Amino acid sequence: MTDTVPQYLPGAHTAMSRDEALAIVDRLVSHLRNETTDMAPEQLEIPISDYLDEDLWEREVKEIFHQIPLPVCTSAELAGVGDYKAMRVVGREIVLVRGKDGQMNAMLNVCRHRAMKLVTGGCGNARRFSCSYHAWTYDTDGRLIGVPGEDTFGPVDPDDYSLVRLPCEERAGIIFVGLTAGRPLELDTWLGDALPYLEALELDKCTHFMTKELAGPNWKVTLDGYLEGYHFGALHPNTVALTNHTNRMTHDRFGPHVRNVFALKSLDAMMDRPRDEWDPAAAMGLVYWVFPGMSIAGGWRERTVISIILPGDSWGESMTWQATLLRTPPTTAEEIAEAQKTAEWFFAAFRDEDYTAQTDVQNGLPSLADKHMIIGRNEIAVQHAHESVRRLLAGESVLGPR
Ligand code: FES
Ligand SMILES: [Fe+2]
Repeated sequence: MTDTVPQYLPGAHTAMSRDEALAIVDRLVSHLRNETTDMAPEQLEIPISDYLDEDLWEREVKEIFHQIPLPVCTSAELAGVGDYKAMRVVGREIVLVRGKDGQMNAMLNVCRHRAMKLVTGGCGNARRFSCSYHAWTYDTDGRLIGVPGEDTFGPVDPDDYSLVRLPCEERAGIIFVGLTAGRPLELDTWLGDALPYLEALELDKCTHFMTKELAGPNWKVTLDGYLEGYHFGALHPNTVALTNHTNRMTHDRFGPHVRNVFALKSLDAMMDRPRDEWDPAAAMGLVYWVFPGMSIAGGWRERTVISIILPGDSWGESMTWQATLLRTPPTTAEEIAEAQKTAEWFFAAFRDEDYTAQTDVQNGLPSLADKHMIIGRNEIAVQHAHESVRRLLAGESVLGPR
């Protein structure tokens, strides 16, 4: 795979001011010179049963995933009126569709007649949705607009039998959905100080290039692998570690959300040049994590890779949607081929290295069922994510400085 490793492009799309970006580069330079990284005050022990306990997994689903705003898709993927995407999210069938007014709608993708899955084809563009069972028809707002043979079926009031709408809002080019009908998302409060940084990424101005899906193991096992750079050298010697330093990271947090910045190897030469010549975007592997399951890897100027990880139907399953967004739409066949190669390369590294390792982790867990996992001080964002889960299950706030 070495010969296809994409190069980091010079540029300054860092989603923050140059001074702020340079302050992070200063921290990375200090870590490189001193062989350090941002660290938690202590190590953290997590009982293996926290991963294996199916009752706890059900509480996580009901008390966290069914309650909080979930980032489920990028706005760029559903940019046009009528663009839709059907997804199975944490055991619920949902459909996202951009209505005639440009607003994003989220509905349960379940026909109100006899519960048939309404939209079966994944993604597309439609003006209405017709159920394949008895052809009840709904518009893009979920309103029931047609019942064949209603004179024999009997009257059906659309006020009672339209699709169940779910709370849905967009911020910063991200589509958020709540899985409990009627429960407000309160997104500005939820995203807090992370929101301006997410908005500065300008994901809403990007072009969606492709999305690939990947089934994985337990959501926490999968999540752990996204949040630290301690594993780069060992697990990714021929991919990620060619361009990223191992175990050299800054960590900042905004309530449950985090920003991890990994030191890129291009920083080695840059840090010996005068500071005003530094190009932060070329030195920072910038990753925002929107709790509970969205990684925005925007360290590259032209490409942003967004991974959305959510629990599947049982404790041992998760689903990942990995989307590639481009700042400049490719026009020539050569540019399209290059974008394709890069997106495939990135996806393959996740699939063949991270997800293979995480599946092995899951398979190993039962053998250590009565023991603990130990999370290092350098795995600070992993600690933070587990602390957020613990707090939410305890009914405590995760917002504000922590
Ligand atoms: S179940 Fe959809 S029309 Fe009958
Ligand atoms: Fe990895």
